[in-house]
Parts: sequence; C-alpha cells; structure tokens
Amino acid sequence: MSFHNEVVYQIYPKSFQDTNGDGWGDLAGITQRLDYLRDLGVRYLWITPFYPSPQRDNGYDVADYCAIDPRYGTMDDFDTLVCEARARGIGLMLDMVFNHTSTAHAWFQRALAGDKHYQDYYIFRDGGKGAPITNWQSKFGGTAWEYVPGLDKSYLHLFDVTQADLNWENPAVREELKNVLRFWKARGVEGFRFDVVNLISKGAFEDDATGDGRKYYTDGPHVHEYLQELVHDAGIDGMVTVGEMSSTSIANCIRYSNPAEHELAMTFSFHHLKVDYKDGDKWSLMMPDFHKLKQLFADWQEQMTAGGGWNALFWCNHDQPRIVSRFGDDKKYWKESAKMLAAAIHFLRGTPYIYQGEELGMTNAGFTNIDEYRDVESINYYKILRAAGHSEAETLQIIGERSRDNSRTPMQWTAGENAGFTTGTPWLAVNATHTSINAEREANDPGSIHAFYKELVRLRKELPVIADGSIAFLERENDDVLAYERTLDGKTLRVLCNLRGTETKTATPLADYRKTTPGTLLGNYPEEPRDTLRPYECLVLTN
Ligand code: GLC
Ligand code: CA
Repeated sequence: MSFHNEVVYQIYPKSFQDTNGDGWGDLAGITQRLDYLRDLGVRYLWITPFYPSPQRDNGYDVADYCAIDPRYGTMDDFDTLVCEARARGIGLMLDMVFNHTSTAHAWFQRALAGDKHYQDYYIFRDGGKGAPITNWQSKFGGTAWEYVPGLDKSYLHLFDVTQADLNWENPAVREELKNVLRFWKARGVEGFRFDVVNLISKGAFEDDATGDGRKYYTDGPHVHEYLQELVHDAGIDGMVTVGEMSSTSIANCIRYSNPAEHELAMTFSFHHLKVDYKDGDKWSLMMPDFHKLKQLFADWQEQMTAGGGWNALFWCNHDQPRIVSRFGDDKKYWKESAKMLAAAIHFLRGTPYIYQGEELGMTNAGFTNIDEYRDVESINYYKILRAAGHSEAETLQIIGERSRDNSRTPMQWTAGENAGFTTGTPWLAVNATHTSINAEREANDPGSIHAFYKELVRLRKELPVIADGSIAFLERENDDVLAYERTLDGKTLRVLCNLRGTETKTATPLADYRKTTPGTLLGNYPEEPRDTLRPYECLVLTN
C-alpha cells in the first residue's frame, strides 16, 4: 500500500503560518511553507478544519462543510495549495467532522426554527427541562444535553454545547455527508481524516450507572455499516483515510482498517496516551506507566497485524501535550529524549504522523495564568477543578500539563519576533522557547531533532522492512526499555529505546544483540554505543 512507507504531517493551520498579519495562520501560509515540508520528505498533509466556523472548538464546530472560512483565505487559495502541493509530490488529507455540526450550521438553524425535516438531522428528544434526558457527560465537561425552551426538546452534544450531534440513522444525513466527500475529492484532495468517527452510531439512550455514557455510543451498533456505505457511495475506498477512534477496541480497529472490510485505511487510537492518567482521569496527574505503555504497544501491534489492520502511529496532535515534555525531558535531555521518542514509534508497523513542530522538539506552552489559555476544554476544566476544591496553583499545574493549547502555540520558524509566525499579534502566545527551538536553526544542523526526523522519513522509504516487516517485541519484562525487532526477507532491524533519564542495562546484553545485528543504522548519541544504554538512548541495529 502506498501509505505504508510514507509519513503524514499534520498541520493546525491557525498556528502554522500567517501571511496577512492578522495573527491567524492561513492557507497561503501553508503554501508558503511547502518547500520546508517537501524537504522533510512527508507525502501527505492532514490539515485540521478551515471551514466557516464560530471557532468555539477551533473549527471542529463546522458551520459549512464546503467552504473556506475567510480568516483562512479563499477557495482560490485552497486550489493553489492543492496544485502547489501536488507539484512537490504532496497530497492533502482534509478533516471531516461528521459526528456533529456547529449549531451555527444552516441545518441546525432550520431545526431550531421548527423545521421537522432538519430536526431529524440531529438527536432531539422531547423534554429535558431541568433534568437532562440521560446522565451522559460531554467530553468537555458537564451534561451532554441542551434543553431548547422554544421547542421543549433537548439535543445531544457529546462535545461543546455548540457542537450538536448528527443523526446518522437518518439516510438524508448520510447523503449530505457523502456529498461533502465528493465535493472535496473533486477539488483534488487525496485523503481524509474522520473526526471521532466511531461515535456516530448511537445505541440506547439510557442512563449510564457506571460511567459517562460512552458505552452507549462508542463503536456503536451500526458504525461499520455506516462507514462502508459512506466510503462506497462517496467513492473514496482505497484513498488514504484515517479515523479518529475514541476509547475504541482492537477488534473494532481491525474491522475499521482491514482493506477487506472497505472502511478506512487506518485508525488512530489513544490508549497509549492515557498511561499517565490517574485512574483514567485526564485531569489527575501521574508519572507515565511505561510497563503499561509497552504492553499496549505490543498488544496493538501484534493483534492489528494478525487481524490485517493498520495503525496510524503518533505521539502528538492538536489535542495532546507535547511528547518531549510529557514522556521525555524537555530540559537536560531535550534532544536525546525527543529523538528517542521519535524512533520508538517510527519503526513500528503503521503509518507515522508528525504533528507540526514535533520535528523541532517543540515543548509544552509554559503558560502560568489561565488568561493565556484559549481552548474551551481548558477553560471549562479550570472552572471544574477550582470548584472541586483544587487550589489555583494545583489547577494551573494540571492545566499546564494537560491543556490542548500546549500543542497549539504557533509554529516556531525563527528566533525572531513571534517566531516568524506572524507580523501581528498571534491568536495564542508564542512559546518563549522559540529563541532556541526553531526551524531556521535546526534545518541546517545535521545533529538536530529535525535532521533525525528527516532521516526517519527517508529510511521508511528506503527499507521495505520498516513498512512491511513482521514485528516481535523484545525486553518484555524490562520496563525501562521499549524494544522490538522487525524482519523481512532476511533483513532484521532491532530497535532499543531507553525510556528513562538514567543509564540502564538491557536484559539481553547488547553484545548479544550485536552478534546477529552488528550494524548501527541509527542512534541519538554521537559517540560509539556502549554496553549499557545511556539516558534516553535509542539504537537501531541491523544485519
Ligand atoms: C476530535 C478533535 C478535537 C475536537 C473533537 C470534537 O477529538 O481532534 O480537536 O475537539 O474531536 O470535534
Ligand atoms: Ca492570517
């Protein structure tokens, strides 16, 4: 498959490059930076939503699926981007937010005005005044139902109150969404990313006695049927597609991504990014549990492979804190740990995704005041945590580690004013680290994190064992070292990653690994390997 040996780069356009000084990144900004992306070697760009939107959830509240928000530019800018990208061998993947629309969408507005046809586009239930229809919680905090007095009905919103869930049981809704895909495909888009697409099929509307309601709509009763129908009718089977799967299971992801099912090309799952959630709660801090992390990687890699599924490989996106600050060390071992974390996932089976700035080792935002945050989830949880009795300092510490704004600070192009992102006032503050962490400095430094990512992208194209080799996990009982072996036609790669900031021994001596894989393909220390792994050291050995 063409996407097995390629890498996808994710762009959050609002924070990528501004060209007109309004402090917002725009489509022309992406076009301006295409050479940088070509030099990195990435094949596809996943661009998060730039459609007209009230921006309550930064564009994931879509008001019109087939237009461009003027703050991002025009349809001409979009066509130029497609064309210029293609000239550099790059294809675009657009973000399809099909679980919900903004309440500003014309469909919802007609529903609100009393139009029954459009009310059936959403999930309205009679009543709900004072007592929500079910006890389900919104992913952004609070009840998932909003009562509309004028209609004496409530609508479901699994996310913000301005993001109303669509009713996929209605065939008219499914037809509308197919048309959206046809529209963008005809404009030259090569693939799609589907937002929280495993939540589209709702089961019973019942109170959840033990949880927040997710068991009733996650990987719901008709989700596979709906996806098959969508993909078939819109003519996107075989395109590069990825579904964002919230709290999913391996068995479902096999079905979503096995080509024989004609659903999607691959899936994002998030279990590996919850190993530092205490009792599964994002807002309770804990040191990462690397034992669990290793187990999850092994389970997903082995079982997805056995079932013919395909993983999207990633640490970072616009919803996750920066990985070097999270599982690495963004100070003393900044460079080493960023490179090790990159190697840890780029050699797995699946298609790697690089989130803008990850290739520079960008770090968490470092905000110290709630006024610096913009994300609706951070602001809601600030209030929830304060009301639950956490002190201001504790609350800011939690938000500081978990906020989605950590990844949304502007791309760091230069050491200059506003990191070269804008000549105006950025919509979200630029990270103070830009004076030392920036593309200008790293792109010309052969020892940089950027150079390391570039090498990872290149190796995946060069060595079929990375795309198609089998995988077996090593050092299974050793919590400090993530290690695995890839094999194809007599070629073997062994990937050894020290997850800790201290020197550590492998269970099988390195000398033994070297007997059958004597060559060093890649490492993150300039000096020769030793017989122990140095802090955050990664080594890729080959025969
Ligand atoms: C996905 C997006 C996230 C958004 C949510 C609701 O998780 O990645 O940014 O808030 O869906 O659309
Ligand atoms: Ca702009």
